[in-house]
Amino acid sequence: MNAIPPKKLFIRTYGCQMNVYDSERMSEALTGAGYEAVDTPDDADLVLLNTCHIREKAAEKVYSELGRIRKLADEKAERGGTMRVGVTGCVAQAEGEEIVRRQPLVDLVVGPQAYHRLPSMLDALDAGKGAQVVTDFPTEDKFEALPRRARRALPSAFLSVQEGCDKFCAFCVVPYTRGAEFSRPVAQVLAEARRLAETGVREVTLLGQNVNAYHGEGEGGTCSLADLIRQVAGVEGIDRIRYTTSHPNDMDDDLIAAHAELPELMPYLHLPVQSGSDRILKAMNRKHTADSYLRLIERIRAVRPDIAMSGDFIVGFPGETDADFEATLALIDAIGYAQAFSFKYSPRPGTPAATSEQVPEPVKEDRLATLNDRLRVHQVRFQEACIGRVMPVLFEKTGREPGQLVGRSPYLQPVHVYAPETALQQIVPVRIDAGFPNSLSGTVIGAMSPEHA
Ligand code: 5AD
Ligand code: SF4
Repeated sequence: MNAIPPKKLFIRTYGCQMNVYDSERMSEALTGAGYEAVDTPDDADLVLLNTCHIREKAAEKVYSELGRIRKLADEKAERGGTMRVGVTGCVAQAEGEEIVRRQPLVDLVVGPQAYHRLPSMLDALDAGKGAQVVTDFPTEDKFEALPRRARRALPSAFLSVQEGCDKFCAFCVVPYTRGAEFSRPVAQVLAEARRLAETGVREVTLLGQNVNAYHGEGEGGTCSLADLIRQVAGVEGIDRIRYTTSHPNDMDDDLIAAHAELPELMPYLHLPVQSGSDRILKAMNRKHTADSYLRLIERIRAVRPDIAMSGDFIVGFPGETDADFEATLALIDAIGYAQAFSFKYSPRPGTPAATSEQVPEPVKEDRLATLNDRLRVHQVRFQEACIGRVMPVLFEKTGREPGQLVGRSPYLQPVHVYAPETALQQIVPVRIDAGFPNSLSGTVIGAMSPEHA
């Protein structure tokens, strides 16, 4: 008897690292249901678009992508096959049934809290039950219901520890699409970290929409992110820990202390500030000032002077004047970000700022270009300051050139070296020889231990 060949699964992932993590978990869940992941949607049996709703036109982009998928589905139907199509993620959560109404091709609409239901939703489709839409927040724990993590090719993995946000920044849809803050219990996080370590993972990035508000159930009561990090650092095989994304107001003393105390906690911090103007920060409902943010970073740098700072910035928030924008540039100069992400404000229906008078588009464009120029100056400065230093690099994969490997520095920079493939998955000292805007190159130095020399 011939075994049934696996069905082909294609997932396109948009947006943040939380979506990357969710896509991996969905892929793993569906592997157990007879699917195998493929790299193109062309002949897939199931196509999932894991969507993001954070900025404008997200829904429109999904509908136009569905239009393209429709052509592939039609071609497949002509060949006598069937392509199932699903929309997951925050656009699925926000649009719900509307997606099936606008694009009848879609068989599945699944909100971020219901991914564990995918296999049973596919069974319902097989039973001829018609399009399946689940966007409620089911009571069962999706993390528990999803299958355990599978073997991984890379030594670095995401681990979701927290979802949702209670902050309600005036521009942001996350509190609406992802709901209230929820933290996974410590035991679950540790079990997943151990499992990842067993499969060769050495670096985990703890993920959450507002990760430093983590307050999971632990042995002696509620556990903070700092305590969770300490426990993950104790997992055999986990040598590096990162976390993202954080809110300045949840950066407590204990978390700062963890940066001083734990060699496993990498010296890189993504701490969005959004604007350098107190007037705009107030209108954004950020509940901190430019000065309180600066003082916070001084405190972090006091215990970890080399920390690489990263941030998010929004230009053209309603009411932003030239003077407000200048204040943002001044804050950037005061901090000296190693890396940052910048966005034009995009009104999101249902959020408080969406109905305010908007800054004209050309002004937003101009400010974005100026902001990016300024960010680049600091980024290049940070990269150049790395030249001549020796850093431990975790090698992840082979590079484009023969003999080349690519790894990550403690500061999250990609580092290219020529070294034998036996160095993959190892943390090796590298002298940095050159800095480029987005990467470094260097030479392996000193004693590589015999097993990877
Ligand atoms: N417009 C522009 N940028 C936004 N972000 C969130 N919502 C919006 C919006 N409506 C940005 C913020 C946030 C990052 C993930 O996306 O900078 O930190
Ligand atoms: Fe959105 Fe972050 Fe503000 Fe929460 S803290 S509302 S996720 S920008």
